[in-house]
Amino acid sequence: LTKEHGVKGLSETGIKTLPNQYIQPLEERLCMTKIVPKNAIPIIDLSDPNTTGVVDAICNAAERWGFFQIVNHGVPLQVLENAKEATPRFFGLPAQEKNKYSKDNSPSNTIRYGTSFSPQAEKALEWKDYLSLFYVSDDEASALWPAACRDGLLEYMRKSEAVVKQLLKMLMEKLNVTEIDKSKEDLLMGSRRININYYPICPNPVLTVGVGLHSDVSTLTILLQDDIGGLYVRDLQDNSWIHVPPVKGSIVINVGDALQIMSNGRYKSVEHCVVANGSKNRISVPIFVNPRPHDIIGPLPELLASGEQPIYKRVLYSDYVKHFFRKAHDGKATVDYAK
Ligand code: SIN
Ligand code: FE2
Repeated sequence: LTKEHGVKGLSETGIKTLPNQYIQPLEERLCMTKIVPKNAIPIIDLSDPNTTGVVDAICNAAERWGFFQIVNHGVPLQVLENAKEATPRFFGLPAQEKNKYSKDNSPSNTIRYGTSFSPQAEKALEWKDYLSLFYVSDDEASALWPAACRDGLLEYMRKSEAVVKQLLKMLMEKLNVTEIDKSKEDLLMGSRRININYYPICPNPVLTVGVGLHSDVSTLTILLQDDIGGLYVRDLQDNSWIHVPPVKGSIVINVGDALQIMSNGRYKSVEHCVVANGSKNRISVPIFVNPRPHDIIGPLPELLASGEQPIYKRVLYSDYVKHFFRKAHDGKATVDYAK
């Protein structure tokens, strides 16, 4: 049942108890006692993006929290809303329609509808369905992406590109990279993937997770969430868990492993997870801004020019990503691959 209809189908049968395969071991669950109710993740206003105040705020947030939210970022509210509305439209399709994009049926290996994270590697499943779309070209997207969500997602990808460039420019300046030429731009953001996530109402949210503890393998992730909440981030200083509250019109930004490696550990790719919800369905829409699969990532030469010792080795990005997807979610362990 789970395989054919995802957790959405399971949730909608009205089950009152969580099936055993979703019961996570204690260490995988978010220990509620460690959640500190504080508004700590910075919310940064990009109305005047090139002021030193804004650049400092972005770079400090990337160093201290690895996460921040941006407002007045120039992506129209309607574009954000359309991207979010595309999500329930896809997941609301009949199972047989969605299953046309499952691993065995998908018209392309760049498109994947699935449930959990990597079911074959996990001891317990995660309470989430997703559609993952690796962007190749507008033509491929027009031909192959599901019509139910294609236009809203493509428009959002297009309209968010400028702010991604702006953020990377600010982050790079502090690393001595004063000019982002074409090859640097490709290294930082040469490939992109957009996911839509659906977390249906869960019969016993404390026993499971929406997404287990992990850090992203991206350069940057830019994420839209609806108004339900449930994304938690580790505070590097005291290991407590901090909520990323929904803020209307905002985009959540986080540093991924590739940027942590390129910045030689300056910017932090921080562990996060999503808690399942007992009374409401939740959606989110991350865009993973990545190096290209064939790029070699390592601490940036501009940074090492001052004599700083590299703390990571150079690795082929596609190998790094393969390593991530081979395992279940396991916190920050992926980055050891580059040690
Ligand atoms: C994720 O980090 O994989 C998902 C984040 C979210 O749904 O808020
Ligand atoms: Fe993530």
